[in-house]
Amino acid sequence: MSRLWEKGEPLHPEVLAFTVGDDPRWDRLLARHDCLTNLAWVDVLAAAGLLEADEVTRLIDALRSLYRQACEDMLVVAAEDEDIHTTVERLLTEKLGDLGKKVHAARSRNDQVATDVRLWTLENLAELGQVVGELAASLVRLARRHENVPMPGHTHLRPAMPSSVAFFATSHADLLCDDLTHFRDVYRAVDHSPLGTGAGFGVALQVDRWRAARLLGFHRLQRNALAVQTSRGKLEARALGAACSLTNDLARLAWDLALYTAPEYGFFRLPASCATGSSIMPQKRNPDLMEVTRARAAQVRGLLSMVLDVSGSLPSGYHRDLQVTKAALMQGLDHARATAKVMTICINDLEVDEERCRKAMSSEMASASEALKLAQQGTPFRDAYREVGEALREGRTAGWQVDPRQQVSLGGPGNLDLEGLSTELQDATAWFEKQERHLSSSWMALADPPQKSEGSE
Ligand code: ARG
Repeated sequence: MSRLWEKGEPLHPEVLAFTVGDDPRWDRLLARHDCLTNLAWVDVLAAAGLLEADEVTRLIDALRSLYRQACEDMLVVAAEDEDIHTTVERLLTEKLGDLGKKVHAARSRNDQVATDVRLWTLENLAELGQVVGELAASLVRLARRHENVPMPGHTHLRPAMPSSVAFFATSHADLLCDDLTHFRDVYRAVDHSPLGTGAGFGVALQVDRWRAARLLGFHRLQRNALAVQTSRGKLEARALGAACSLTNDLARLAWDLALYTAPEYGFFRLPASCATGSSIMPQKRNPDLMEVTRARAAQVRGLLSMVLDVSGSLPSGYHRDLQVTKAALMQGLDHARATAKVMTICINDLEVDEERCRKAMSSEMASASEALKLAQQGTPFRDAYREVGEALREGRTAGWQVDPRQQVSLGGPGNLDLEGLSTELQDATAWFEKQERHLSSSWMALADPPQKSEGSE
């Protein structure tokens, strides 16, 4: 089919290929969402009096069958299509003739792509939230398995104070809890329907935007039509910002694990499921997984930076520049999900060398607590600090307790509040499960309602 906008003056094929870029690859991932957007739009057009009842039935049947094809990844953006929106319109027209061409009334690819991308983002954030919740839960399980095993706590990579395996593990779970809050905020920001805003200036018809929003599973509308277009890139950056926060946390966890599984530390052992080998040194058990995790975090930061750069250099409204923010968003969230999943595998199988952890504890790590004990007995802390320093230099450390359970302040190794953390994590994960259920039941009602029993037609 010729371009949707073709006016008889053909575009140079290289210009076409250049402007389309690698969009067909990414748009294919929007095929289901584009069918849903079309289904909602048919309903809105019918309510506005632009389609007859029998036309609605035929369009809905055809779109539902395209939706099923999309679910099997069979909707391919052909070379002659510019994008998935063209593909769906072409297939609909091939099937239904002129009727297929009626669906684009009062609509623009600009509000279509914004809608499709937001639906994709909501679906992916709902899944990502659960994947992150599962990783955090696996860290809490690691903490419970080794609750009272001490290990050195470091500052500046040097032994500092007594820590514990549980404390280390829950510190990472705590950070993930914070990332879940980010994802929830982004979900709420994206959960505003753009459909029915046209090219960015509204349309000359009373379309029921709320109706379209509800059908698609959105909880709110984005009011201003121009703001819808200008939000493209802005929302992508918010989602990538949350993804960055996550992948940075995972890179830190990866760094810690690469160090602590190195023979020099040896607190943990990389499980066989996660250790790569060397082609020349048979003894190696390499942490490639941790290294790729760090590199992925760098890639996600790069994607965020690109999206900020592109969207921050534009005036209001739609500009084709925005097309590249789609691939960045999709890649960034994909990297985030894949990284969180492999880290979960690693944490589930991680082996803790309790013996090595205990042996690594040295009395100097008790210095701060010993000084505090003297302070509790009335010695000014600065004097206690000096006295403990002298005792340490002279080797008078007998009786010093190197025990992380002494750090009893809330959130310290001796007072982890594992229950509080678990409850917070369960609530956060349940929130994402609820969003997923809401989306899939809305989408099922629109595209895949339960089959009527035989003969009831
Ligand atoms: N591929 C385009 C994008 O992602 C779809 C919207 C096209 N709209 C337009 N006015 N050319 O932005």
